[in-house]
Amino acid sequence: MNNHFSTKTKTLLEDYQQQRLPQHVNNNQATTYIPPDQSLMEDAIVALAMGKNLLLKGPTGTGKTKFAEALTVRFQQAMESVNCSIDLDAESLLGFKTLSYDEDQKQQITFIPGPVTKAMTNGRFLYIDEINMAKPETLPLLNGVLDYRRTVTNPFTNDVITAKSSFRTIAAINEGYIGTVPLNEALKNRFIIIDVPYIQGEQLAELIKQSTALQDDTYIQRFVQLSADLVRATTDGRLAEDAASIRALLDACDLSAYIPPARAIHRAIVEKLDEDREKSFVKNIVETLF
Ligand SMILES: Nc1ncnc2c1ncn2[C@@H]1O[C@H](COP(=O)(O)OP(=O)(O)O)[C@@H](O)[C@H]1O
Ligand SMILES: [Mg+2]
Repeated sequence: MNNHFSTKTKTLLEDYQQQRLPQHVNNNQATTYIPPDQSLMEDAIVALAMGKNLLLKGPTGTGKTKFAEALTVRFQQAMESVNCSIDLDAESLLGFKTLSYDEDQKQQITFIPGPVTKAMTNGRFLYIDEINMAKPETLPLLNGVLDYRRTVTNPFTNDVITAKSSFRTIAAINEGYIGTVPLNEALKNRFIIIDVPYIQGEQLAELIKQSTALQDDTYIQRFVQLSADLVRATTDGRLAEDAASIRALLDACDLSAYIPPARAIHRAIVEKLDEDREKSFVKNIVETLF
């Protein structure tokens, strides 16, 4: 049945069946964050060490989440996360009350803390992803959490919760992305803003080598060039922003270790584009590179 696959693909499947997966397949968590430039890491560390909150700004797949995780590890903290959506409400941030039964089967009301209250009371890092996806009326609740007060009144218990000194907030925002609203000024005012660009050049080559199955330096260089071309085209408005996602590029590199790069790029990048014009644009770049 597998006769028409390449030898490499057959070996991959056998390895999978015998649980001899390429190391990186299980290991993406362990991939270290590679900052696009050192000032980014330094500025983030200084701001957090001085008790400030960070807002990471940048398109999808620039490594914002990875950056926040790396900072959390540097500060030897645990992280609580919130993924914002239009449905995000006070309960999903702060927690909610629920009925439960104690040992004597007596009914009691217990409070299940949410990510914000948990991070505050335990002095952890709070990561708020896509903060501008939340409904504008939900976020003002965080104003007091993020400024000198470092408190929030729990609307369900009326307790005033004060954050432990090690509590920090890192939020991420993809400005201008469909479905997002501009972050209100009062909230923005409470953050130090860090623009997170796509990693490029030598750093990107290092990331590909470290975290994908593609190890051939010639091909890695071509993917670095492809990424540069895609980033330029998204900034020029010729391609939708998602086309330059490092996540998709790494997927394409992974597949390319086994199947022809053009096919890999087709599956990982081209097919995600909405417009035919964009698809042929990327195909043209790929033809000149591979
Ligand atoms: N600078 C970087 N260092 C390490 N990994 C990165 C970097 N940029 C992107 N990645 C990888 O790309 C993928 C997307 O990153 P992620 O942090 O989820 O992006 P974002 O949160 O900006 O959408 C992840 O697999 C991540 O490991
Ligand atoms: Mg993310």
